[in-house]
This record gives sequence, C-alpha cells and structure tokens, in this order.
Amino acid sequence: MTSLVHLTRNGAILWIEIDNPPVNAASQTVRQELMNGLLAARVDPSIEAVILCAAGRTFMAGADITEFDLTEIPQPDHSDVFNAVEALACPVIAAVHGTVLGGGLELSLAAHYRVALASTKLGLPEVKLGILPGAGGTQRLPRLAGVRAALDIMTGGVPISASKAKQLGIVDVVVEDGLRDAALALAVKLIEGKRQLRPTREITVDASTIEEGFFSSYAEALPPPDKGGLAAHAIVRCVKASLDLPFDEGLRLERAEFNVLKDTPESIALRHIFFAEREAMRIPGLPRDTTRREISSIGIVGAGTMGSGIAMCFANAGFPVTIAEVSKEALTKGLRTIQTNYESSLQKGRITNDEAQRRVGLISGVTDMLELRDCDLVIEAAFESLDVKRTICKQLGGICKVGAIIASNTSTLDINVLAEATGRPSDVVGMHFFSPAYVMRLLEVVRGDKTAPEVLATVMALAKTIGKSAVVSGVCYGFIGNRMLEPYLRETETLLMEGASPTQIDRAIEKVGLAMGPCRMIDMAGVDVAAKVVIERKKAGALAPDPSYRAVVQQLFTLGRLGQKSGAGYYRYEGRTPVEDPEVTAVCHQLAETHGIERRDNISDSEIVERCLFPLINEGAQILSEGIAYRAGDIDVVWVNGYGFPAYKGGPMHMLAYVGAAQIRERLAAYASIRGNAFGYWDISPQISGGEKLSLS
Ligand code: CAA
Repeated sequence: MTSLVHLTRNGAILWIEIDNPPVNAASQTVRQELMNGLLAARVDPSIEAVILCAAGRTFMAGADITEFDLTEIPQPDHSDVFNAVEALACPVIAAVHGTVLGGGLELSLAAHYRVALASTKLGLPEVKLGILPGAGGTQRLPRLAGVRAALDIMTGGVPISASKAKQLGIVDVVVEDGLRDAALALAVKLIEGKRQLRPTREITVDASTIEEGFFSSYAEALPPPDKGGLAAHAIVRCVKASLDLPFDEGLRLERAEFNVLKDTPESIALRHIFFAEREAMRIPGLPRDTTRREISSIGIVGAGTMGSGIAMCFANAGFPVTIAEVSKEALTKGLRTIQTNYESSLQKGRITNDEAQRRVGLISGVTDMLELRDCDLVIEAAFESLDVKRTICKQLGGICKVGAIIASNTSTLDINVLAEATGRPSDVVGMHFFSPAYVMRLLEVVRGDKTAPEVLATVMALAKTIGKSAVVSGVCYGFIGNRMLEPYLRETETLLMEGASPTQIDRAIEKVGLAMGPCRMIDMAGVDVAAKVVIERKKAGALAPDPSYRAVVQQLFTLGRLGQKSGAGYYRYEGRTPVEDPEVTAVCHQLAETHGIERRDNISDSEIVERCLFPLINEGAQILSEGIAYRAGDIDVVWVNGYGFPAYKGGPMHMLAYVGAAQIRERLAAYASIRGNAFGYWDISPQISGGEKLSLS
C-alpha cells in the first residue's frame, strides 16, 4: 500500500511529508503514519530537528470530514498525534502552504515554529461545519494570538492571510517562495544555536486586556444557539477555559464539546451542505475530463441591476468584461452603479484602492452589440420577457464568434426556445445569477436539451473560478429555485387573505431560520417583478383557473406598491424598517371577500410553516422525480445559497428527510381536505407518496 506520510532524512533533520491528495486531509491512515514518524524521531537521538510539510497544492486542510459520520472517530486521536508533535525533544517546524485549515492549522500550532508561504491562508473553519476545533485549536490559538483574535478567527471561521498570521504571532516566518529552503534554514539555525523548544501549551494566555464580563458580552453578539450558533458558543466556553484551566483540562473540555457538537442536527446539516456543494459539480454522464472551451473574455447584454452585478462577478475574478446597452444613458447608469458598488466596498475596507481601480478598469461599455463578437462567453441579462430575450438571442447567434458560448440569465423562461432562436442551440446554456449577483453565491446552470457537454463543463468550471456555487437544473418553469418558490408564495398570499398578517407570516418563517420571510423578501425583490411573473404566466395559460391565485401581489402592483423601492409593498417602510400597514390589511380583506375566502383569527405559526414550507418541499420532490434536479442535495444547495434557507437546517430536502415523509404527507393530505384540492395544489409528489423509505439522493 502506498504510504501517505513520507519520512526523509537530511543529516540531523527529519522531514515528515504528508501526501494525501487532494487536500491532505488527516485521515486515520495519515494520523497513524504521522504518529509512526514521530515515534521514529523520538527514539533516534541523532535527529535534531523535524520539519512537517505537505506535498501537492496545500498543507493539511483539516480532519477528514467523512469520519465525523462514524459513531467514533478511529484512533489515533488527532489530539494525541498533535500532542506527540509538541512533546518531541527536538524543535519541530511546520512548513505550510495553500489552505492550512482546521486540523491542519492545529497540527501547525502544536509544532514549535511555523514558516509559511506568503500566499498561504490559515484558518479554523470548523464553526461552518457546526463543530469546533477539536484537536487543541481552542487552547493553543489563544496562547499564540491572544483571546480576542483567537475568538474572531474561530467563531468567524474565515481564513486569514500569512502576513496577518505573522502579525498575530501565529506564524514566525513568511517567505514569498522557497518554503522548504526557509524551513531548512530555520532548522539549521535552531540546531546550531541550541535554541530552546517552544511548546505552545507552556505559553500563558494573556489575560491583561480581558475585562470582567468579556466572554458573556462576546457570546451575546453571536447568533443564538438555536439559530445556528451552537458551535460558536461552545468555542467561547473553550477559549474561556484556556484562561481558567490548565492546558490538559482545557483540552478535555474541548474534546467533550466537540463530541457533542459533531452529532447535533446542525452539524450533520452543515456537513451535508459541504458535500452537496461539491457533489453538485459532478454531472451524471459528463466525465470530469470533458474538454472545456477557453474563456478569457466576457460580454454582457444589458447594464441593469443583473447585468452590472454579473459584470462585477467576472471583473472580481480578473476577466475583462464588455457590457452592451442600447442607449448611452442606460449604459452610463449601469457603469455608474458598478463604480458606486466598488467605492462602497472600498469604504467598508473590503478591497484596496488599487484593487477597486483594477476591477473598474476591467469593465468597459459599448452601445453596439456587434462589439461583443470576439467575446468567449456572452451572457444576455436583458429584461425578463420572452420576446425581448428571444430577439437578443437571435442577434447573438449571428454576432458571436464560432465557439463562443451564449448564455441567458433568465430566471423563468424556456432555455430551449432561446437556444433555438440563436440558430446554434448547442452553444447555449442558462446562467441564472441571483441578485445582487456579485454577492449571492448561487448560480443555477440550466442545461438545455441541446446544450453541448463541453459548454456545460466549461460553465461549471467557470462558476468555480468566479467563486460561485453552481447547480445544474433541467428546463422547466422557474428551474429549481423559482419553481419551488411558487407554492410557497401561493400559500403566503392565501394566508394573508385568510387573516394572517405579513409580520406574523414573516416571523413564523424567520423562526424556522430563513433569512427573510416571504413578504419582506418580495418587498425587497420588487412587487412589480413578482406580479409580472404571475401576470405573464396567466397570459400564457400556464396557471390553474383559480382567480384567487396570488391575488395579493397583483393588487399591490396595481396600487403602485412596488416594495421597498417605492416605500410600500406588503409593508410600509420607514427608512428600511418595515411597518404593518392597515391599507394592506384592507386589500387582503377585500380580496378575501371577492374570492369567497373565509377570514379567521386562529392562524397559528405552525400552520403558516406547514402551509408555506411543506408544499415547497413537495415541489422539490416533484422536481426530483421529473429529473429536473439530479439530486436532493442539489436542491438544498440552491435554497441555502440562493434563497436564505438556513444552512444549519441543511435545506428543504434535508428537512424532508428529518421531518419524515409520513408527517409531510399527512399534513399535505390534511390541508387538501380542509382547503379543497380543486386545482391540484395539494397533490403529493410520488417521491413523498411512496413508501416510508425515501430515495432522495
Ligand atoms: N475532509 C474530507 N474531504 C475533503 C476535505 C476534508 N476536510 N476537504 C476537502 N475535501 C474533499 C472535497 O470533498 C473534494 O472532494 P471531491 O473532489 O470528491 O468532490 C476534494 O476534497 C477537493 O475539495 P474542493 O473541491 O473543496 O477543493 P478546493 O481546492 O476548491 O478547496 C479547500 C480546498 C479550501 C481545502 C476546501 O476543500 C475546504 O474548505 N475544505 C474543508 C476545510 C475544513 O473545513 N477543515 C476543517 C475540518 S474539521 C477539523 O479539522 C476538526 C478538527 O479539529 C480536527
């Protein structure tokens, strides 16, 4: 069997190199072989220094997350291995590069010295998996970096740069290149100078700046434990222990907290999303080595909110972008929006002035679409109207060079129709960005019937390059996300007509953990946008003959209540604060009368949650059974990264597995009998109406 840890002698120095591609995760074999290497060093007095390093693109990126599903993590324990590193009688240097994360950073913290390449990112992202650093991180990091910095790094889970790590005392030496030479030079210096060992555990945590009540006020600012904050609160307890308890007792507390956290529904859900995001990149029948087209320049049609946001996504990743708009005014407005957005990022300290200038400089504007002829990828981001988009696609088919990819940012329309309009459907794919496009991580990639495999492979790889979480959807109304949104919004509006208030609905949904309830969400996205979708679908004959269907949004639109942007929608706005508005109550009352809907004052929060979320889940199951989504996990990724579904709940389909098909089926059937099912709203998807066992993956 090939070894995952290589030992090499270089005079008095022992190199221990981890070689477990792709990310050198600390699997059981890696831990065992590391332990063997450390034992070899311990018993050999001729070894005067040890250098820990890793082959490939990164130092160890953490524990092997797949092991957390086991009832017990197999021996040797991470902590035992890292303690053995620290206990060696000769200096140990960690030479790190790439992404030094989780157990990888904990291993480095247990070494006596750390040398890093300047490009290295270091972090303890465990909180994002609903756990805490369980191999000494909560005890060693405060000893090196201080309590506040350690807490920020662990509760935020965001990696820091090597230079920041040096500034905080986490790293000793940072080099632009020649990592191994630098580690070797340090080892030689340490041997020659008979430098003392420097076990991190022996450092006293600096408590001088920690005032009374510090930990409780720090904890208060975190998300509450029942809103995804369980792990962060446990981290605070462990860091406090690093001050209050001897090192080994602190380690024991950390271990106990870790063991509890790893089995919580929150952590299981977060791990599900971690792997689902990566699984979503794999497309059945499309080998990983599918040829890809070269993409180095981007064209965008439309400088509106979507077009300018998409342009920023690509410029942020270093691509030159040309935006085409029909009128000079619209183009200037779009380019100004981009400039303003970058200025705001600059003011918030998110980017440097040079970076802002560089990004702005990558975006240019034209008023003639012909100028997009040399672009490798052209994305149309025009107004959401089939006629408009079809015309643009037809023009692009003639303008774009041979081999260029033509994408549409449509959120609901039929990609196959747009693809045919270009006259070259194999070059066409949907790229549905979410607003604001430069912030939201989700990209729905819509695979048309004739989309060429290499076009799909190219766009998926490109999505990763620009930092998006991509999910492939088949062609249907609204694709995965917006299609599931429909029954959710339908029930929201029916509940409003029955007597629930926008606040009550939003609060009930937000209690489940969704970032925003449906009424606030539509007010932000635009009542006009939402209403036009309904109106268009009605015109196209795509809706059931139900006159009450989403009557509220249409009426608000008619009244000019367009949402936040017009100061009123489902709510009235005082600044950005939503306030209940009697006018909306009156609208709902009147619509209920018109449509013969009985008003009630006994609508409970659980009814709201069941009626809004269970049909949404049912629609997800239907999407799966139609093959629109490849996997349940893909649907979860869409909802977590695009619609504010809480990652710690794992997405709607994960919720289905948790709540249980039987329960959801029973509730859907109950609402069908209470509300009637003339329009098939409560029909149960075969995925849910089957046996107890779900086959959702
Ligand atoms: N365990 C198991 N598999 C892992 C892994 C891990 N820690 N990290 C990455 N992988 C797998 C991915 O699932 C993926 O597998 P497939 O190719 O089969 O899909 C493969 O490695 C490559 O990963 P990415 O596609 O994510 O590669 P990338 O280059 O885009 O990103 C990365 C690399 C930044 C390291 C990213 O993978 C990542 O963030 N990994 C997780 C890091 C992490 O959370 N570490 C903490 C673990 S918990 C811990 O360490 C607790 C402790 O106290 C000991």
